[in-house]
Amino acid sequence: MARVLIDRRTIHKRVRELGIAISRDYAGEELLVVAILKGAAIFVADLVRQIAVPLSVEFMEVCSYDGTESTSRVAIIKDLQAPLAGKNILLVEDIVDTGATLSSLITHLRARNPKTLRVCALLTKPDRRLIHVDLDYLGFSVPNEFVVGYGLDYRGLYRNLPDLRILNSQM
Ligand code: IMP
Repeated sequence: MARVLIDRRTIHKRVRELGIAISRDYAGEELLVVAILKGAAIFVADLVRQIAVPLSVEFMEVCSYDGTESTSRVAIIKDLQAPLAGKNILLVEDIVDTGATLSSLITHLRARNPKTLRVCALLTKPDRRLIHVDLDYLGFSVPNEFVVGYGLDYRGLYRNLPDLRILNSQM
């Protein structure tokens, strides 16, 4: 099996910490959590159960990857229907690589006049960044390797692995 990069207990502990920080920062407010399909589906399911403020969850779907290669073209496959004006949006992403996906989503969502817009990413690969994005909440920084598991895929597979693993040629 591929090498475990971050095991399930460590993920769970960090997700709890993120939920506590988010709950503290939004105390007295309501949140609209916008998760990016499909990679963030498992992370957001765990994360929202650690957040104590009233919230709703919506999903967007984007496509920017081809196998293990990031492309700069970010296509929105499924957009949000609900109005965002005056809402506190928390954008939840699985992993920030070049930054192209998040920066284009941030521009897209800002244009719809939310009250606040913050970003929560499970993982970041800082060495790969081409476009700067501010991450308000971050799970872990990871090296420049292709990561699968806990929602992250390679060509649609491995999202179901409970630990985060580094993809290798045997998989
Ligand atoms: P970016 O636009 O280059 O920042 O790429 C972000 C998207 O690429 C993420 O939402 C993932 O879908 C995908 N991605 C980037 N790195 C990995 C990885 O190591 N494993 C799985 N998906 C990845």
